[in-house]
Amino acid sequence: MTAVRRPLVVGNWKMHKGVAETAAFLEGLLAAGPPSGVEVIVCPPFTSLPHAAMLLTGSSLGLGAQNVHWEDHGAFTGEIAAPMLRELGVGWVIVGHSERRALFGETDESALRRAACAQAHGLEVIFCIGETLAEREAGATFAVLERQTAGLGALDPGHLVVAYEPVWAIGTGRNATTEQAQEAHYELRRRLAGIFGAGPAEQMRILYGGSLKPSNSGELLAQPDVDGGLIGGASLDVDSFCAIMRDAASRAAGVGS
Ligand code: 13P
Repeated sequence: MTAVRRPLVVGNWKMHKGVAETAAFLEGLLAAGPPSGVEVIVCPPFTSLPHAAMLLTGSSLGLGAQNVHWEDHGAFTGEIAAPMLRELGVGWVIVGHSERRALFGETDESALRRAACAQAHGLEVIFCIGETLAEREAGATFAVLERQTAGLGALDPGHLVVAYEPVWAIGTGRNATTEQAQEAHYELRRRLAGIFGAGPAEQMRILYGGSLKPSNSGELLAQPDVDGGLIGGASLDVDSFCAIMRDAASRAAGVGS
């Protein structure tokens, strides 16, 4: 099957790279040049966003943040609002990452509120979902995905990317198999079709995340319903990030699909 969706490769740097390291990375990435046919986004920490925005001006690389609050302004110490991100030239935001859920009290409901506010301000949303190991072993994977996607109908599917990140695969070196990833993505697209209709669901990109790296990106990104990757550790190194982009480009060319 030829991919109808433009592959998307997103680097989630998490709490890595201050301004100097961000500059060095982006200069390397711009020199390497992202392959054609692939959309590439980097998501540095908040403090690196202004410099990253400056360096990426006029390039084809997109810029994303790793979180956003659900109000435009107010007494929310330590939070960042969507208009603040827009002012910097940020176009994307990751919402509901499992680390936010596990460590910082994010819920399905708060993630949805953040996503809705982000979209209202013109940000593209990458909405993260995925089951824990205990949930997978209990055979509850699809039930968890159903619960986590239940409220997505409140969002605009035209500005929404879903990232399937099985929690047990994040930062563990243990990626989902191609069968596990494709099965979950297929189920998610079926679910998205139930929410938004078959046409929009066919256009929506579903990313895989969890120990995605050059040694497994070729086969994972060749799966029919895996439209790209949300990459943590391997996105911190220009060479490995570029290798994953090339595998996404193969998908774009229909070589791997
Ligand atoms: P790793 O690629 O380091 O497993 O992280 C995945 C992730 O959480 C991306 O958001």
